[in-house]
Amino acid sequence: MSYSSSATATGAQEGTVTKRGFWSSRLAFILAATGSAVGLGNIWKFPYITGENGGGAFVLVYLICIAAVGIPIMMAEVLIGRRGGHSPVNSLRLITQRDKLHPLWKWVGVIGVLAGFLILSFYSVIGGWALSYVGTSASGQFSGQTAEAVGSIFSGLLSDPMTLLTWHTLFMALVMVVVARGVSSGLERATSILMPGLFVLLLIMVGYAMTTGHFGEAVSFLFQPDFSKLTTSGVLVALGHAFFTLSLGMAVMMAYGSYLPKNVSIAKASVTVSVMDTGVALLAGLAIFPVVFANGLEPGAGPGLIFQTLPLAFGQMPMGGLFGTLFFVLLVFAAWTSGISLLEPLVEWLEEQKGMNRTISTLIAGFTCWVLGIASILSLNLWSDVTPLGMFAMFEGKTIFDLLDYLTANILLPLGGLLVAVLVGWFMSKQALQNELSLSEGGFRLWHNTLKFITPIAVLVVFFYNLA
Ligand code: PHE
Repeated sequence: MSYSSSATATGAQEGTVTKRGFWSSRLAFILAATGSAVGLGNIWKFPYITGENGGGAFVLVYLICIAAVGIPIMMAEVLIGRRGGHSPVNSLRLITQRDKLHPLWKWVGVIGVLAGFLILSFYSVIGGWALSYVGTSASGQFSGQTAEAVGSIFSGLLSDPMTLLTWHTLFMALVMVVVARGVSSGLERATSILMPGLFVLLLIMVGYAMTTGHFGEAVSFLFQPDFSKLTTSGVLVALGHAFFTLSLGMAVMMAYGSYLPKNVSIAKASVTVSVMDTGVALLAGLAIFPVVFANGLEPGAGPGLIFQTLPLAFGQMPMGGLFGTLFFVLLVFAAWTSGISLLEPLVEWLEEQKGMNRTISTLIAGFTCWVLGIASILSLNLWSDVTPLGMFAMFEGKTIFDLLDYLTANILLPLGGLLVAVLVGWFMSKQALQNELSLSEGGFRLWHNTLKFITPIAVLVVFFYNLA
């Protein structure tokens, strides 16, 4: 049997006859997976961690992590999802039963569902910042402002729990509406409109950045490696971010893969998604850093980078109100499609496991996540001194919000990815893998050996170097 991607046109027919609903086409899967991958991670997190970690050398390590760790794991996750054909936890249970493996492997899916739930709780809060900035921008509040004024708009937002709660609630509601409507009517339609819009908006931003006169400076900041600026914790951040930005290590790609028609090439789809995700991050960097340099702003300003520095630039540029509004609309789109994918695995699991209908599962999962989000909101203001694991040196000074970010991106996701690599690389039958992938022999061996050796070693080395 060969599943060449030239046969993808039949995916549409396949979709209509399947009870569970496949993606209507290969393109729809790619749109949705890219929608998941491209999010706050690309536009908010990538620029600020790149700024904090000194630019070029960090970007290079991040690119290596995408190629050597990210793409092989993405293929493995999509493969597990498609082969299992159920929610991540149940796909893993079925696969391990079929291949007579230890039932404990299904916990890889449980870790994933848990990580997605934890990430969404604070992701939604940041999505809320973006939502609120659409309004702030559109109402012209940034125009002609000083750095202090823009900074105080940001700190004013962070210090106001009720406002944060309102935006967090709205963001979570947006996510829940799409998830409740189900894969083909909800996710697919939303992403097929949102993703192309996002690309266009980003290109407009890069176009503006080229006129600032500081484009060359930004290019050398991003692409000229200076290894003296790279630290071992920077390497962990780059690795963790490769997982975060590609939505790996938490079963999202398993959940989406379970809807992928059999005739679509997993390798091509994974490479396409990864290239687009990386492209968006680099475009975001190219859109943001020229503006940062043109205004003498600090690249290492931290998580507030785009919220505190860009509005300042928007306030000074011609038509800045329009560009600023477009930019934050773009950010909301990106965050929304990622948020959808963070909730999907849990909802899919509740539906199957507990026999609940989709609406009820979405309400339960979304509401619980919303409640947890309140802890993140409070840790930005009233609970800013609360550091629950502060007695451990590595968590010193970390608020609930910081902890959730750190535990998910730097620990749970790499751990989930490591387990997937070990399961697929060392335990699943090679024949079964090749049946799903239908790669050339050389291609298969390259992928399999990378997954078996390079990926686990890279993750473990980086992990222990940092824990030690
Ligand atoms: N990849 C998303 C981003 O870059 C975040 C995400 C992580 C989404 C894990 C799903 C799963 O913003």
